[in-house]
Amino acid sequence: MRIKELKVEELHPEEFIERKVEEITSIVRSGAAINALSGGVDSSTVTVLGHRALGDRLKTYFIDNGLMRQDEPQRIAALFETVGIPVEIVDAKKQFFDALKGVTDPEAKREAITQTFYKDVFGTLVKESGARYLLQGTNYTDVEETVAGIKRQHNILEQLGIDTQEAYGYTVIEPLIQLRKRAIRAVARALRLPEEVYTRPPFPGPALAARVIGEVTPERVELIRKATKIVEEELESTGAFQYLAILHEDKVTGLRGGKRDYGMQVEVRCWDSEDARTGSPTKLPHETLERLAERITTEVPAVVSVTYNITKKPPSTIEAV
Ligand code: XMP
Repeated sequence: MRIKELKVEELHPEEFIERKVEEITSIVRSGAAINALSGGVDSSTVTVLGHRALGDRLKTYFIDNGLMRQDEPQRIAALFETVGIPVEIVDAKKQFFDALKGVTDPEAKREAITQTFYKDVFGTLVKESGARYLLQGTNYTDVEETVAGIKRQHNILEQLGIDTQEAYGYTVIEPLIQLRKRAIRAVARALRLPEEVYTRPPFPGPALAARVIGEVTPERVELIRKATKIVEEELESTGAFQYLAILHEDKVTGLRGGKRDYGMQVEVRCWDSEDARTGSPTKLPHETLERLAERITTEVPAVVSVTYNITKKPPSTIEAV
């Protein structure tokens, strides 16, 4: 791979920040840039680096693709207001659900999300704002997995031979591309981002669409959003690397109130991992698993079956799609 990893052991966060701020400034010069904030540590770190370099010549958007966790757009925008960075929420729900309609193949879903983000949403924002640059938080693991053909991470463009200037009308700047998660967290801490930003588990760019097997519809996303909230509430205290809920495509026969109930299946995953490259399922106490099953089937009544993934990555991956 052309890009060289900068390992957390070799990283001097303050020096790194200074270098990246200079790089961004020298690329954008007197121009303007935009970036999309999702609230994850990668995009949050880039947002602060970009604002240090460009001030209000960087316009930050939260793209509400309809696939985010409950109340996330407003929560993240409010959090960044507290550090003096204004965030504009863009309602792009319809565009994303239209693009995902009828799509079931995992890589086709990822492609639909990528095209909607970069071509439709950012393409329009760039035109409207007059910016010529898009700043984004692509990390080393994203590139590695995409180049290896494991998963096409939604934010990989140039490394797949896409000329963004030609295809979308702007240049992409990726200050974190040499870093993995632990290193990015160290940079975020050095930037004095709110602690909850760099201690939160990773969340994928395609958001809850990475956790819906089969067609991604507003109803199916709403179901997995509710289950996700429960899983996050119950597993936050484990300190695990990542924990999530997945909606399966096939239904199963269940039983409620003495009657047949043909319902949905939700799979819970909880990962111990250093950097998402490999992972093992957390050995959760049985009582925790039982509580998850109880809450999910009660609070999300369309669900009649809850399972826990016991497979390592590899051969599993962290998300399902
Ligand atoms: P997988 O599922 O490939 O995930 O084992 C590895 C890590 O990457 C996150 N992930 C993504 N992050 N864009 C991202 O920014 C994506 O398209 C994407 N897909 C997965 C995942 O949550 C895990 O932390």
